[in-house]
Amino acid sequence: MILAGIVAGGTGSRMGNSELPKQFLELADKPVWIYTTEKFVPYTDFIIIGMNPDWLEYAQAQRQKYFPDSAPIAVIAGGSDRNETVGNMIAFAQQNLHCQNNDIILTHDAVRPFVTEKMIRDSLSLIEQCDICTTAIPATDTIAVSHDGSCADSFPDRSEMFLVQTPQTFRIGDFSRIYDTLSDDEKKSATDVCRLFQSRGKKVMLTQGSPSNIKLTYPQDYQTAQLIAKSF
Ligand code: CTP
Repeated sequence: MILAGIVAGGTGSRMGNSELPKQFLELADKPVWIYTTEKFVPYTDFIIIGMNPDWLEYAQAQRQKYFPDSAPIAVIAGGSDRNETVGNMIAFAQQNLHCQNNDIILTHDAVRPFVTEKMIRDSLSLIEQCDICTTAIPATDTIAVSHDGSCADSFPDRSEMFLVQTPQTFRIGDFSRIYDTLSDDEKKSATDVCRLFQSRGKKVMLTQGSPSNIKLTYPQDYQTAQLIAKSF
């Protein structure tokens, strides 16, 4: 079985739009999370949306509006951080969809609407060669490493630096096995599923992303997204 897990559990505080979390902003006449979710429909057997619990009913009403009742799409409550949202989606899949450990999940940010068919297909192909694969693009700016945010400790070779995007694709059993062994501190500091896998010696591979595969973070990203949506 191939699943998509669309993470939408955040509040979008950096977007500064206090009324509506950014996953509900309109893009091409529909909410961003719907725009994103539609991209995965042709490639997956089931899609799970991990939604901010305060907005669960609101999102479930939108799911009813934009997808047929029979569509294999469930909106469930996300967690207190991104990894917990992924954990909730995987627990749902194990309990309700009778998933096996080898079943594959493409996890993707709800607020990264310009994922392409090629990125999804490449991810599904590359996962056959590794434990987790993530979409990424080469860094175009030099990256400084600083432990205190003031002094620069090092400037890694830019040709070896990549910016990580989503989709990130892995087998659900691997995530559960790793997540269950984490201490509370590790759970707090692990910002990315790839970091979790890498910390346990798993093979992580990169697949080609795009500068257009932006994540809506700040208000200017939303303006850019509206321009990109017109050209898609
Ligand atoms: N996310 C999630 N569960 C959380 C926190 C974040 O599923 N508890 C999701 C967001 O909804 C988003 C993705 O992870 O789709 C990337 O996170 P980010 O851009 O940081 O989103 P927010 O946490 O909503 O934004 P901010 O940090 O500005 O509050």
